Amino acid sequence: MAGEGFSHIPKKVKKIKTKYRKICTSIPVPESIPILQRVYETESHSMHGQLPIIWDRANGFQVYDSWGNKWLDFSSTIFVANAGHSNNRIVNALKTLLEKPLIQTYTFTSPERYEYLDYLINNTPSYFEKAFLLSAGTEATEASLKLMRLYGKNKGKKKGGILCFEGNWHGRTLGAQMMSYDKNQKDWIGYLDPNIYHLPFPYPWLNKEIEDPKLFFRDSIAKLCKESKIDPKNDLCGIMMETFQGWGSIFYPEEFVQEVSLFAKENDLILCFDEMQSGFGRTGELFGYMNYKVKPDLIACGKGASSSLPLSIVLGRKEIMDLPQIGSMSSTHSANPMVCKAGKANLEALLEDGLIENSKNLGFFFHVELKKLKQKYSNYISMINGKGLLAAVLFNDKSDKTPLKNLCDLISEKCLQKGLLVVHTGRESIKLAPPLCINKEALNEGLIVFDEAIKESIFELYGN
Ligand SMILES: Cc1ncc(COP(=O)(O)O)c(C=O)c1O
Repeated sequence: MAGEGFSHIPKKVKKIKTKYRKICTSIPVPESIPILQRVYETESHSMHGQLPIIWDRANGFQVYDSWGNKWLDFSSTIFVANAGHSNNRIVNALKTLLEKPLIQTYTFTSPERYEYLDYLINNTPSYFEKAFLLSAGTEATEASLKLMRLYGKNKGKKKGGILCFEGNWHGRTLGAQMMSYDKNQKDWIGYLDPNIYHLPFPYPWLNKEIEDPKLFFRDSIAKLCKESKIDPKNDLCGIMMETFQGWGSIFYPEEFVQEVSLFAKENDLILCFDEMQSGFGRTGELFGYMNYKVKPDLIACGKGASSSLPLSIVLGRKEIMDLPQIGSMSSTHSANPMVCKAGKANLEALLEDGLIENSKNLGFFFHVELKKLKQKYSNYISMINGKGLLAAVLFNDKSDKTPLKNLCDLISEKCLQKGLLVVHTGRESIKLAPPLCINKEALNEGLIVFDEAIKESIFELYGN
């Protein structure tokens, strides 16, 4: 079937009924197949390849289809639903606006827009003086690239050099793809921006090379400057880094990021974190960069910024945020009142309902339990990364280090059949990221299901 990826043949699976999960049909649901088939016929192929489930409704940390099945969600729709699916604060806020009614204002100001901006600026670190509101994450990273280059121009720098990192990823529009490392993904562009550079990422498995993370960074920057004849003060204007490398939730060593930040200061460069996956409480801090104890000049956020409607944000100092001329950095749907209403209610929920603390506190339990899984399946699980309610479980064969992508596909599929949704990365990792409103009992149940799925998948693929 077009759109394939996972099997679309309904499979008889064990019926499940617990407080948090219910599976009462074959999976995928037989009635869902013609609907999926129709979607594959009418929509661009690039949107497909996902686990075969049709969402009917979602609430808190659970997702329902219309055939009676209920899943425990460990994906938060890929880090979006941080405040929980259909969070009451957000739903009620949106209802008031629908009843008003006001659903679009273009760039005319609305009460929802100024109230949200005030709340956002007052409740984020004081060095973020202004915000720019957009819709997609890739727009926010793209806008950050523009701001970094405008900053360099304004400072009279000779070139608009941007430092990025190998393996990092920033979105699907042109500038974002240029800053991303994946060469296959940007092949369509036909050329590479000669002033965007990629430095080696300090992967934990390079332990010999990164014994001294500061030196690792300084050596790589010195090598780049020599090879590309770069004078950092005049030829570079910014640094873009994912707060952790997405596919494997791989954090940098703290001293590494601190050294990057120092280098940015020494050379008057803008330091920008791509906070798409790490922002809004996911790692147990409001923003993920806070784990490194540095102060960025800019951050690009999205996903969990609203837990619902399309909202992305660039936050930064006034001096940088005011560089674009009026009208040169705006978008038709920027600061849409519905989205602003959702953004404010989301941040209120995260800050006032203790969801960031829940992420931090339950995160300790989560990672202790995951460590036990790593020990249990030590021949297959090479690493577990993450902080707060974020984890990536990396599957590699212990003996020859082969990435076990097929095992990850099967585990994800088995989780679906058992009533658990995980983040299928399409690589040798599975990411687990429940909404931050989850409770310990449900979190523990999901981990037990994940354990069962690993055990059965290993048996099915390798017979042990
Ligand atoms: C780290 C990172 N940056 C940028 C993006 C792009 O966001 P969007 O898909 O909303 O354009 C994503 C999306 O997955 C992301 O994970």
